Amino acid sequence: MELPIRIRVRRGRADTGRRRAAWPDGWPEEGLVAVSTHGDVGRGLEGLAKISGRISGAIESVIEGKPDVVRLALTVLLAEGHLLIEDVPGVGKTMLAKALARSIDCSVRRIQFTPDLLPSDITGVSAYNQERREFEFKPGPVFANIVVGDEINRASPKTQSALLECMEERQVTVDGHTYGLDGPFMVIATQNPVEMEGTYPLPEAQRDRFTARISMGYPAPGAELEMLDVHGRTSPLEDLSPVARAGDVRELIELVRNVHVSTSVRNYAIALVTATREHPELRLGASPRATLHLVRAARAYAALEDRDYVLPDDLQYLAGPVLAHRLLPTAEAQVERRLPEHVVAELVAHVPVPDPRR
Ligand SMILES: Nc1ncnc2c1ncn2[C@@H]1O[C@H](COP(=O)(O)OP(=O)(O)O)[C@@H](O)[C@H]1O
Ligand SMILES: [Mg+2]
Repeated sequence: MELPIRIRVRRGRADTGRRRAAWPDGWPEEGLVAVSTHGDVGRGLEGLAKISGRISGAIESVIEGKPDVVRLALTVLLAEGHLLIEDVPGVGKTMLAKALARSIDCSVRRIQFTPDLLPSDITGVSAYNQERREFEFKPGPVFANIVVGDEINRASPKTQSALLECMEERQVTVDGHTYGLDGPFMVIATQNPVEMEGTYPLPEAQRDRFTARISMGYPAPGAELEMLDVHGRTSPLEDLSPVARAGDVRELIELVRNVHVSTSVRNYAIALVTATREHPELRLGASPRATLHLVRAARAYAALEDRDYVLPDDLQYLAGPVLAHRLLPTAEAQVERRLPEHVVAELVAHVPVPDPRR
């Protein structure tokens, strides 16, 4: 039998309407509360709503005024993907990555990327054990359910690619031995915009590994004020305890895999991606991997919206975060300051939308 997780509930700050809404049964009393997640998943999408609501409630107790960003992060988690958070320093990228990792009871490792970080600092090394007279493998920080790769573009390309190989293959090869990585396995990487000093931009092939790229954006003045009130004294991250287990997340992922995508919606995904390959302002369009990620993310997003089928709207909403970071503008488009995000928005507005019932 699974034991319930115990979480600490505080009155006052937590007792706001928004946070109470994260608890479908109403906000619990103060103190240590036992949450049994056992059985929630069994109830299909209803269980998914319950658990995902708890996770996003936990993250939103730390990250002020960014519900859409939190939802996208959860979408990527449930789509078995990896998330790239790109934005200027100090807008809560690391905080979001840590909050998501902490809200799930699973193994978490954080890697701070620096120019002198070596590939083996990520994957692990084989070291000679004098007593046993044999080599033994010391697993690196990539052996965790959630790996936070902070400021990923500060490390050398060789080190970046060590992480990116693990992301794609979900395994690590060191000295000819291959070690598998347990699921769920999600990399949440943060990076500063490429124009910033001391960065090695991620090559396109490596950006393509990330299901979605999101930016945080500055908080609205109200949210910033709330942040000052709450974060002024202590870090709320300290009080965040897990509200779901790794096993729950595995089951939710399984549920998401069964979300229905009709033929017309699948064709719509292909039409959107194909349009990026033919667009005159793009030097590089989106790959078939991008199509796969788009449909997977749409399944997760639909499930979070309490639907067991994908709508064209889901693809439209996700097209920017899932496609834009994989595209390269032409030199002329760059001069005109036309960003891939603009092109994707234009395609979403122009590619004909199918009838989802067919
Ligand atoms: N939207 C936000 N909600 C709550 N705190 C925020 C937000 N944005 C920034 N902060 C605060 O700013 C600090 C810096 O955030 P951090 O995650 O380290 O930034 P980054 O990784 O983007 O450089 C954090 O300690 C956090 O308290
Ligand atoms: Mg940071």
